[in-house]
This record gives sequence, C-alpha cells and structure tokens, in this order.
Amino acid sequence: MARYVLRVNGRDREIDAEPGDNLLSILRYDLGLTGSRFGCGEGQCGACTVLLDGAAARSCVTRVASVGTKAITTIESLAAGGDLHPVQQAFLDAEAFQCGYCTSGMVMATVGLLRTNPHPSEQDVARLLDGSVCRCGTYPRIVKAVRLAAERMRTATSTGARR
Ligand code: FES
Ligand code: FES
Repeated sequence: MARYVLRVNGRDREIDAEPGDNLLSILRYDLGLTGSRFGCGEGQCGACTVLLDGAAARSCVTRVASVGTKAITTIESLAAGGDLHPVQQAFLDAEAFQCGYCTSGMVMATVGLLRTNPHPSEQDVARLLDGSVCRCGTYPRIVKAVRLAAERMRTATSTGARR
C-alpha cells in the first residue's frame, strides 16, 4: 500500500492504494464517485471514461500510480452551479440514451473531443463512437447529441457566453 494524493474535480483527495489499482475502483469505491461506470474492465467499452488533464482516458485500465499530478475530471463535476454542461444538455435534448449505462462515458469522451476539436467531422464522431459501446444502440442519437453540443459550444464561444 502507498499513499497517493489525487487531484479530483478540483480537490486534493488522499487515498491508500496498491500502485496497480485501477483509477475507476478508487473513484467509485474510495471516493464515492459512482458516475463513472464499470463495463468491460478492459479498456474496450468507454463506460469508465474520465478526463486526465482534459483528455479522455479509460479509468478501468489507468493505474493509480500513473496518474501523478494530472487533474482528474469526472462526470460529477460537469454541471456547474446547477446548469448542465452543454454536452449533458445536448444528450438530454437529443434523447441520446435508453438505459443510460454508457451515458457518462459518452459524455466525458465528447467533452474531451470538443476541447481540442470544436468542429468534429463525421469521421471524428465515428472514431469517438468506434471505441465506445452502447448496448442499447442509441448511436444515431448520440451522433446527433455530439453535433448539437459542438454547434452550441461554438456559438457560445463566438458570443462570449460562459463555457
Ligand atoms: S469499463 Fe473501462 S473501457 Fe470498459
Ligand atoms: S443507453 Fe443503454 S448502454 Fe447506452
């Protein structure tokens, strides 16, 4: 066991863990952040996606010892002051889910994509979804949500609105 200080959603959190423990388990079971889901546990489905220094990462295959000082962002921190993040709002407006199990991972992957690519092409969105599994098959509506979020975030940026 070793002690780690993780920067999670803007707060330093101390935890004791084995170096090889996966970040998803730490988030869910040590820190109570259960929005990130366990799907495959092998880095293949995207249900556990969080951001590490703003980039999408699969927390089930991220060893806690490899995180270091990177800022961890989970779905719990996206809605600020009661307002949904534009990506969350777009998923809601596009009804881009059925059971919702994949949704937090899809939302985090989308936030990660749009941070570096505000104009995602159809291929960019397809690549995003290629590695993300929705067992309910809501892919067409997820594509719609990603494009809607991108459009709204571009408009907000051009008009100087928040986010
Ligand atoms: S649970 Fe992490 S990629 Fe499937
Ligand atoms: S909405 Fe059910 S797995 Fe995606």
